[in-house]
Order: sequence, then C-alpha cells, then structure tokens
Amino acid sequence: MDTGPAGEVLLQPYQLSPDLTLANRILMAPMTRSMAGPDLAPTAATASYYARRAAIGLIISEGVVIRPDGQGYRRTPGLWTEPQVAGWRLVVERVHEAGGRIFAQLWHVGRVSHPSFLGGAMPVAPSAVPLEGRVPRTPSLVYGRPRALEADEVEGLIDGFASAAQRAQQVGFDGIEIHGANGYLIDQFLHHRTNRRRDAWGGTPEKMARFALEVVDVVAAVVGAGRLGLRLSPGSYTHLEGDPRDAQVFRHLLGELEGRGLAYVHVGVFDDTQRFPELGGSRASEFLRAHYRGTLVGNGGYTPETAETAIAGGRFDLVAFGRALVANPDLVARLQAHEPLRPYDSEMLRSLW
Ligand SMILES: Cc1cc2nc3c(=O)[nH]c(=O)nc-3n(C[C@H](O)[C@H](O)[C@H](O)COP(=O)(O)O)c2cc1C
Repeated sequence: MDTGPAGEVLLQPYQLSPDLTLANRILMAPMTRSMAGPDLAPTAATASYYARRAAIGLIISEGVVIRPDGQGYRRTPGLWTEPQVAGWRLVVERVHEAGGRIFAQLWHVGRVSHPSFLGGAMPVAPSAVPLEGRVPRTPSLVYGRPRALEADEVEGLIDGFASAAQRAQQVGFDGIEIHGANGYLIDQFLHHRTNRRRDAWGGTPEKMARFALEVVDVVAAVVGAGRLGLRLSPGSYTHLEGDPRDAQVFRHLLGELEGRGLAYVHVGVFDDTQRFPELGGSRASEFLRAHYRGTLVGNGGYTPETAETAIAGGRFDLVAFGRALVANPDLVARLQAHEPLRPYDSEMLRSLW
C-alpha cells in the first residue's frame, strides 16, 4: 500500500460548513462505552475521557439514546431527563474548555433491544421481523420479534429526534450526528429485510427513505444543516442482512441529501475493505462517494497512513478513527511528533481512560 507521512493531509484544517472550521481532518468515531451512571447520565469520568481527546478535529459522542424506548444496551446514556442533560453539559463544557468540538450522535435502536431495557415493553421497529442472536455483554438476553410501529407512532419518533436535538442544542453541543447506520431504527427503514411496510413508510425506495429524510429535516430545522451529519450503512454488515434492492433506496436517499447542505455523510462500517454484493461489489465508502458529492467521512479499519492515502486520492474528505482513539487519546500529538500509535486491545474498553 502507498503510504505517505501521516499528517501532511490529516493535520490540515477543514472547513466543514460556513461557520465551522475543524482544526484537522480527524473525527473521533462514535463509540458506545456502556459506562453511564445508573440514571443513564454521563459521569465526570465520561467528561474527562472526551476532554482528553479534544485535539481531534471533531468528536462524535457515543450513541445518545433519544427516548426510553430507544435503548438496547446496558448503561448507555440518554438525553431526556435533567440529570442526563446535566451530565452532557459537563461533557460539553470540559471539551470546550480543552479547545475541542463535539457533536452528539442521536440514536434509537429500534428492534435491536430487549424488554428488559424497556420496562417490559416490546422493542419497536418498522415491521415485526425478528432479530436473531443474543444481546452483547448481556448474553442471557435473547433478541426476539419486535412490534411494528403504527403510522402515528412513526410521526412521534420523528418528533422524538427533534426534541432530543433541541435538548442537545441547549446543552451546548456543536452539532448533531444522526445515527442512521449499523442496523438500528433508521437503518431498519432503509433496508428491505427489515422494512416490509406498504404504507407511507415502505414499499418503494422513496417511501423507505422518507423516515430518514424527515428526521434529517426536523433536526436540521433545529441545529441548521451545516451542523448536522448523517451516518449510513448502505451495505448491511451487522444486525440485518442485505438485499439487492437496497442500493436503489440509498441512491434515492443520497440524491435527496445532495441538495440539503449537510455538514457531512459518515460511512458506518467496521472494515471498509469489505465489498458488498448488494452494492455491486463496492465498498461502503465507494458507493457513498459515487452517489454523494458533499463532504464524506471515511471510517472502518483505517490507520493514519491508509487514511492519508485515501483522502489524498479523493476517496473521502475526512476520516473517523474509533479504536485507535481508545488506545491513543493523544493521537494528534503522536502524529505531529511522528511517533507510532499504541496498538488497540479490546481490554482497553474496560476503563474510560
Ligand atoms: C466499543 C465500540 C462501540 C461503538 N459504538 C458505536 C456507536 O455508539 N455508534 C456508532 O455509530 N458506531 C459505533 N461503533 C463503531 C465505530 O464508530 C466505528 O465505525 C468502528 O469502530 C470502525 O472504526 P475503527 O476501525 O476506526 O475503530 C462502535 C465501535 C466500537 C469498537
């Protein structure tokens, strides 16, 4: 692989939108840490963890659950109670004091949940298509068949994203990333495997993309399109299986997004060397670049060297690092000093260092 000195491009500033310039082209990928307090509020340790990484051009928070029925894992933070708002306010203040920028990733898991997280209620989803498997980190819990949302409940969820965006703005977040990736609620509307609806929210590419677009529009009305990113997984690699018809849904969605002036679209994939049969053999980033001309954030197994090469080659504009930033809170300083990175080890997820 052709590798240049990592830093030449990555450490350059980038104008994300008219009123937002990033100090460098690196994002912190959203990473759920399951370390919120029992009230699902971020803690002082969470605030220190993000502030330690403030030299990154833009931090994307771990998934922030928009309302109680959107939770799918233990101790994932929310944004609907006063203690949760106060916890996030501390995070944002600490990041800003350290000179950083942070977007909140707004999240609803849809069917990727279990009644034990939902006060005994069934998880909700576009259609009642069961999810196989067990809840990670809580393997005694087996996934099951969700309840299909009524049409008025779909509208209520769009309002739920708007309300969460308002609270995120009050907290002082610099912007929002909508979690439309990784097989969670928004992604469940975008894929044929999980969207079997024949009403206004399914049955054609336009109707399948409508939920994502309406969420984008209500959140953009709150924070402004230039402060809004959207994460997408056009190829299915987790929590649902792909279908050859899915590509058409994403082509329609990306065409619609083109005119909306978003800050960015973000690739959601763990390994961006993966090629998807349902995308004609493309990688997720290739497919998004082919159908979307705005700022694209690459992600999924990149190193500073491979990201540098990809950005220089025009494959995407910015890169998000996840695991490398768990292992290297001082990643920017290491790149500036041409020092090697510390290798990631999943044991590092045990603490919020
Ligand atoms: C511990 C962990 C938690 C994650 N949580 C989220 C999340 O909350 N939201 C999300 O969109 N992606 C999540 N991801 C995926 C990452 O954002 C990223 O796509 C993935 O780690 C690949 O990037 P990397 O190779 O740079 O680590 C998570 C990944 C890890 C390792």
